[in-house]
Amino acid sequence: MPLRERETPRLQADADGIAQAAALLRGGGLVAIPTETVYGLAADATSGEAVAGIYAAKERPSFNPLIAHLPDLAAARRQGVFDAHALALARAFWPGPLTLVVPAGPDCTVCDLARAGLPSVALRVPAHPVAQAVLQAAGRPIAAPSANRSGRISATSAAHVLADLAGRIDAVLDAGPCEVGVESTIVSCLDGAPRLLRPGGIPRAAIEAVIGRPLVLAGEAGMAPISPGLLASHYAPAARVRLEAEAPRAGEAWLGFGPEPDAALPEESLNLSPAGDLREAASRLFGHLRRLDAMGPAIIAVAAIPQEGLGEAINDRLARAAAPR
Ligand code: TXA
Ligand code: MG
Repeated sequence: MPLRERETPRLQADADGIAQAAALLRGGGLVAIPTETVYGLAADATSGEAVAGIYAAKERPSFNPLIAHLPDLAAARRQGVFDAHALALARAFWPGPLTLVVPAGPDCTVCDLARAGLPSVALRVPAHPVAQAVLQAAGRPIAAPSANRSGRISATSAAHVLADLAGRIDAVLDAGPCEVGVESTIVSCLDGAPRLLRPGGIPRAAIEAVIGRPLVLAGEAGMAPISPGLLASHYAPAARVRLEAEAPRAGEAWLGFGPEPDAALPEESLNLSPAGDLREAASRLFGHLRRLDAMGPAIIAVAAIPQEGLGEAINDRLARAAAPR
């Protein structure tokens, strides 16, 4: 599908901007919308043509299925079949940064292309009030992957969206920076055994507390990745990334966490959270990676991040940014 060059206006997230965004979506357009995790590149999930536009704008491999966004659990249950675990998780964490992969229901209207031909469907009810308003006004499931070009760092502000997608989408609805900063946690509930497909904004321990048992991480050694977002190289800055660094070496940019090391820091230096707060670090992760990368270093050295709470999602994204490509 040829990519149509177009103006990409920045709409304000007021009643008028929300109405314009919803009208564009109902007409088959592409609009980047804010959610509490990252900006999503939204399109009508029931329209194959609209969804094809997402893949074209992102230059995304078309085998990647997309998340369908709904305003509430009742709307989500019209699309998918919820077992007891899925229901408990939805009630505990929706609206919020959780995506549930469930069997598609008999009346599912999410098109085949958005589901990549799978018998399952990924559903999410976002908490962001602007996303909520757009979903209410659109009145149909809205497909929305992160609003960045495929393989690039996810967008957590309207400026990031425009840097990747200006001229390729119909509008961006600007509601300022995203609060959570990493994508939703994805859990599949397909065969009675909930699996963690992607660590994200809801920590694993909070999910395990609700289902009362440990989650298996799909895609761990030897398992085929069921969630293509788990493919190794993803979220890639232009610079190479060196993980769990104690301090920057000569010539490296530095991305710190917690107190800075005693070593001299380069000019290209940012800190995810000087206080060592994992929430703050998650919300700054993609923005800081973009800012450091734009300074053109060959290598970004990153301080160690504890593997607890949101640290699991942060380390997952950093490992992908560091993967060989
Ligand atoms: O926070 C988020 O989840 C953001 C905001 C915009 O909602 N969206 C997002 O979408 O991160 P995306 O497309 O970048 O990631 C969707 C992930 C992909 O890894 C995809 O493979 C997985 O969801 N997925 C979607 N449908 C699936 C299915 N039926 N089975 C397994 N994985 C699925
Ligand atoms: Mg993405």
